[in-house]
Amino acid sequence: MMHQHALRVLLGVGGGIAAYKSVDLVRRLKERGCEVRVVMTKAATGFVTPLTFQAVSGHPVRTTLLDPAAEAGMDHIELARWAERLLIAPATADLMARLAAGIADDLLTTLALATEAKLTLAPAMNQVMWRHPATQANLETLRGRGACILGPGEGQQACGEVGPGRMLEPLEIAEALRASAARPLAGVPVLLTAGPTREPLDPVRFLGNRSSGRMGYALAEALTELGAEVALVTGPTALPPPGVSELIRVESALEMHAAVMARAAGCGIFVGTAAVADYRPVAPARSKIKKDAEELTLGLVRNPDILAEVAALSPAPFSVGFAAETDHVIEYARGKLEKKRLSMIAANHVGGERGGFERAENALTVLWDGGSRALPMMSKAQLARELAALIADRYKEHHAAST
Ligand code: PMT
Repeated sequence: MMHQHALRVLLGVGGGIAAYKSVDLVRRLKERGCEVRVVMTKAATGFVTPLTFQAVSGHPVRTTLLDPAAEAGMDHIELARWAERLLIAPATADLMARLAAGIADDLLTTLALATEAKLTLAPAMNQVMWRHPATQANLETLRGRGACILGPGEGQQACGEVGPGRMLEPLEIAEALRASAARPLAGVPVLLTAGPTREPLDPVRFLGNRSSGRMGYALAEALTELGAEVALVTGPTALPPPGVSELIRVESALEMHAAVMARAAGCGIFVGTAAVADYRPVAPARSKIKKDAEELTLGLVRNPDILAEVAALSPAPFSVGFAAETDHVIEYARGKLEKKRLSMIAANHVGGERGGFERAENALTVLWDGGSRALPMMSKAQLARELAALIADRYKEHHAAST
């Protein structure tokens, strides 16, 4: 499915011999309905002239940050805001190192820091430079921050060596960029829970858990990027609100249950990322509990299972659960998938050194009836994108089968 409007691509051209291929890349992107503006590093101008890129893109090409004439037009901050995608091709080893370190010593690296556009890199370099641990570490840093890496390909290099390091062909890069801009969930109402719940003990104390809300917020953003209209029901978190269609703040599991059930009937997809308390105090004290007694016994009562109730609706939305387990992760998760009649479950190994709660990184094993996919340890932003794409694929199949 095409983006409804021309996708605004800022193409950053690095200083490598593959820069000549980026001239064709501009044409390929334009053929696919993209609007392209080009920024070149100083080194890139040694391989191809700015005039060549100006001719193919139809716009002036910028090469320096401190150019009063250019800044009087679309200044670099406007350019950073204009872009929906920052595509760097070729991305040289030096450029990747500067991007990974957050250095902003020229126009392109400054734009990379100043833009919120998704970063896509098409690396190109000598195969020894590509394999160097420094380059590989920079690559991991950039990937961990959510950058999409296209290639490099293997084969004969301009320097005469053979190995990984060739920039992908312009057609492949343009196709991959267009595919990443497709919005397979355009207009689909999605309801998502995130964060912890707080179960009041008295007016000042509660039972809570370690969920930070990061995974849920990242997933809400990733589903929004795919075109979904996301209503996010969130327990208390310290995170800035994500850009979603509706944000509903709740505290307790009962409040989360009420907010979800009021909206569940109309949604196409439900995702339970929240760490909902299974139990709540039977009757929270009206005033602060005093520390008079030597022992205090708390009476707890079961909370409603929000996910199970949503999945039991008729018709039920495509229901995705999370399973946080300390052991027998896959076995317990598959049990929950079947028992709660879910469409999909994402299993987390929690409690260990690299558990899912609170951290910026996570790994998941996603299970559905007849299939599974392991998503290795990566940033929650990147993991959310991969999970959102998987949800979109399965949802479309499920939807096609039920209509
Ligand atoms: O928020 P972060 O710090 O980023 O951490 C993310 C996370 C680890 C909290 C998240 O990825 C996660 O695993 N969430 C589910 C945690 C959990 O409570 O798992 P569970 O096995 O207890 O519950 C299974 C599923 O049922 C979950 O989808 C949960 O939202 C849902 N549930 C559970 C109990 C309940 N009363 N109602 C529910 O809807």
